[in-house]
Amino acid sequence: MSDIKNILWHDTSIKREDREAVLKQRGTVLWFTGLSGSGKSTVANAVEKRLFEERKLTYLLDGDNIRHGLNRDLGFDVADRMENIRRIAEVSKLFIDAGLITLTAFISPFREDRNKVRELLGERFIEVFVDCPLEVCEDRDPKGLYKKARAGKIKDFTGIDSLYEKPTSPEIIIRTDALSVDACANEIIHYLEVKKFIR
Ligand code: PPS
Repeated sequence: MSDIKNILWHDTSIKREDREAVLKQRGTVLWFTGLSGSGKSTVANAVEKRLFEERKLTYLLDGDNIRHGLNRDLGFDVADRMENIRRIAEVSKLFIDAGLITLTAFISPFREDRNKVRELLGERFIEVFVDCPLEVCEDRDPKGLYKKARAGKIKDFTGIDSLYEKPTSPEIIIRTDALSVDACANEIIHYLEVKKFIR
């Protein structure tokens, strides 16, 4: 029971465990992190489709989409990226409480920010490092953004003039330059089964 500035926490009658029992799954977040063009959204979509086919309740929060709404006031400097990730962590916490298998696809470039998410979500946080060399991402350049960044038309672009800090001990690493989307999705589904997030 915390008391922040005269605001009292209310416990609800229906708890996460009750919802999880109905859903036959444990609320969790698969936190995809990696460079632009590494395949975060593609793999997250493939995993969500597989879970949906198994009648699991999921929700995918995707960087590009969230920046059209909830986080439309944020840009790409360090402070805004930090706030972007802080808000998504809080939304993920609510979704976990709702019993959902949440998938997030944000570059989330800074280790300290991701570690704060880990602290907030505890064992429900599954960090998925979408590992793909910068050269390959730049070669794919699906949105033409690397080209613009190299031409100086976008500043603070991750991997070019803004830092990406690789995770040091992620729960899952997927090599999207070496494995197919299906193979990457298989690894993640297998992890969820082994850790009994789904049954
Ligand atoms: S972050 O770093 O986590 O706050 O970024 P995120 O919310 O995931 O947004 C990344 C997507 O925004 C587009 N974009 C940029 N990315 C990186 N740096 C800069 N400066 C930038 N400007 C626009 C880009 O399409 C990213 O999408 P993905 O899916 O990662 O390619």
